[in-house]
Amino acid sequence: MRRKTEMAQSTRCVALLLLVGVAVAARSASAITDGLLPNGNFEEAPDKSQMNGTRVTGRYAIPQWEISGFVEYIGSGQMQGDMLLPVPEGANAVRLGNEASIQQRLTLTRGMHYSITFSAARTCAQSELLNVTITPESGEVPIQTVYTSSGWDSYSWGFKAKHSIVLFIVHNPGVSDDEACGPLIDSFAIKTLQPPQRTKGD
Ligand SMILES: *[C@@H]1O[C@H](CO)[C@@H](O)[C@H](O)[C@H]1NC(C)=O
Ligand SMILES: *[C@@H]1O[C@H](CO)[C@@H](O)[C@H](O)[C@H]1NC(C)=O
Repeated sequence: MRRKTEMAQSTRCVALLLLVGVAVAARSASAITDGLLPNGNFEEAPDKSQMNGTRVTGRYAIPQWEISGFVEYIGSGQMQGDMLLPVPEGANAVRLGNEASIQQRLTLTRGMHYSITFSAARTCAQSELLNVTITPESGEVPIQTVYTSSGWDSYSWGFKAKHSIVLFIVHNPGVSDDEACGPLIDSFAIKTLQPPQRTKGD
């Protein structure tokens, strides 16, 4: 009888430890920190074996990202015709061709507000836009005529996390004659937005 009680106690103890372990794991998994997304500036390069010229051929070739369609990996100093393609941050950026997309899974705190900022530049004359999705919602970001001297502009996308794990997808819905036309993108960073605080006496 005594043994049985001890056993029950130790079982309960193990169960409790497991619960604590699960809680700690859940907590650390949700701790996305403000700043660049993992490889958000594309400085970790794809392996040469997964590229053909500038085109990235492997779906998981760019570390931390998953791509589909005509995606190019652009280095600073790269030319398009006689135009130098600018890179805003570090030495590399990505270009999304027709119907191309790039995505990353984010672990967020459900109900919290966030903003994702990034840099983008047009590379061809026609109007370009990006379709930004944080599952389950998406919207369009027109890439404007560029006003900065560098040729890049910053864009910001604010949202409330509907789920704790979401897919962040940036997609170029364009269908231009030249497959290699499409926005250059770089420097993806996330910031947690603090909800307005109630002050005493509210
Ligand atoms: C690389 O791209 C060129 C031009 O599209 C194509 O002709 C060639 O077959 C490709 N090479 C490989 C190894 O896929
Ligand atoms: C934007 O992307 C989402 C997810 O990939 C897709 O469901 C939606 O249809 C796209 N919208 C446009 C206008 O392309």
